[in-house]
Amino acid sequence: MDKNFFITTPIYYPSAKPHMGHAYSSIIADFFARFKKIDGFKVHFLTGTDEHGLKIQRAAEEKNINTLDFCNEISLTFRNLSKTLNLVNTDFIRTTEERHKNAVQYLWNELVKNDEIYLSKYSGWYSVSDEAFYNDDELEIVDGNKVAISSKSKVEWVDEESYFFRLSKWEKPLLDFYKKNPNFISPESRRNEVISFVKNGLKDLSVSRKSFSWGIKVPNNDTHVIYVWLDALTNYISALNFPNKDDDLFKNFWPASIHLIGKDIIRFHAVYWPAFLLAAKIDLPKKIYGHGWILSDDEKMSKSKGNILDPLEIIDRYGLDPLRYYLIKEVSFGNDGSISQERLEDCINSDLANNFGNLCQRVTAFTINNCGGRVPKKIELQKDDIKILDNFKNNISLIREKIDNQDINFYINFIVNSLFEANKYFNDQEPWKKKDDKIRLDTIVYTTLEIVRKITFLLYPIIPKSTLKALEIFSLSENDINITSIENNQFLMKVDKINKIDILFKKIEKN
Ligand code: ME8
Ligand code: MG
Repeated sequence: MDKNFFITTPIYYPSAKPHMGHAYSSIIADFFARFKKIDGFKVHFLTGTDEHGLKIQRAAEEKNINTLDFCNEISLTFRNLSKTLNLVNTDFIRTTEERHKNAVQYLWNELVKNDEIYLSKYSGWYSVSDEAFYNDDELEIVDGNKVAISSKSKVEWVDEESYFFRLSKWEKPLLDFYKKNPNFISPESRRNEVISFVKNGLKDLSVSRKSFSWGIKVPNNDTHVIYVWLDALTNYISALNFPNKDDDLFKNFWPASIHLIGKDIIRFHAVYWPAFLLAAKIDLPKKIYGHGWILSDDEKMSKSKGNILDPLEIIDRYGLDPLRYYLIKEVSFGNDGSISQERLEDCINSDLANNFGNLCQRVTAFTINNCGGRVPKKIELQKDDIKILDNFKNNISLIREKIDNQDINFYINFIVNSLFEANKYFNDQEPWKKKDDKIRLDTIVYTTLEIVRKITFLLYPIIPKSTLKALEIFSLSENDINITSIENNQFLMKVDKINKIDILFKKIEKN
């Protein structure tokens, strides 16, 4: 079995500082990366910034700053956000780096060599905000402005010499590929949307611009810069040291396991990117997952709408793990989700403080007071104990399968139910009434401790810092966490002392 896992986020435009939508994609990618890591995979996790094109050039001009200086400054805020979000990314790529430019020009030359590119003239509508060309039937008039129906961003007329990529010729091969690889595009609604777009007919794609200079030069014609999406998409292989196909990174991690993106950029990833790769005779990624939008006031968050939520403010106020937990649990993965402070506070109070935190505190205190602060070893498991313990064992292969289908909702529900069952078990078994039946008391304590250990392992990809704190109960550390061991009911037999820990989550006072 392939034990390498390569996951990517979009590379974000450093046209303005990061917002909650960017944080969301990165946190979800981190969740998958961490799950795979504790399931024994070698994980490569790539994120970064997409720094060329007219959008960035204009943003820098508006601030009167040299374009590269502007990129340096804002790219750094994205890099810092990765740290603040506690991502385990193994690389952070910037498209202004040499390694990337070389790869893009190499890919361009390959496409030219394969007769996939020709020089002509582009006349049509272009959205700088989306860095996308639109047909007339994709536009509408809003408040007197011509805008793209899908993104509501303004378009402008472009009329210039341009190189074209023979996208039209890939219409049939793409449709065949989608058919043969039914899981290539997820969720299914996105897949259907893409297939109907391609079935409607593909026109050749303009892949260079002449009227501005902020980009990677077309080899042998430096009056043109390469279309920013051809440039940006190539990051997924330039970061693996493409074109050096013998490089370990490329050999081990290409094709990518999953490109995680928002649904706004599905067309670029599920149509253009595979077409470029087919044309250059490079393997296609295994999956494109287009998640939904984080809405603010029921609208997509965006700079132009002025309804941006700042992840740093939320993290300052509530902490990182509560935000991670909230986004993973409350936004039904694949769909849009509105952010609400009220719901975030409910999550902290009920799930994190009451259900998880409190269970940890209760069983620790009980063990310290009644079992000399040691994991009981002389136990006799009964039906109820085995049933709740084995529920984990019986579900691990299903959990793995759900993760490979990006069913985060299943994963989090399994945890929430397990927490509920664990608290119920401890209450129903009433160990405090078993002081004259030491073996029974010890068995209940052992069982509850094992459940806490198992749930904590499962929570690690969601709330890593807090779970590491919880694992101090058992003097366990990050290296001890692994998915396979969740099946093991004897794991704590090798742990001796139980340590008291500080409170994991403070409850939010609500008025
Ligand atoms: O499109 N809800 O960059 P970008 C959820 N540079 N996710 C959101 C979001 C929201 N409201 N807003 C943004 C680009 N995102 C290109 C990508 S990739 C080769 C080049 C997330 O800064 C989501 O992942 O506009 C979305 O696809 C991405 O940020 C767009 O970021
Ligand atoms: Mg965008």
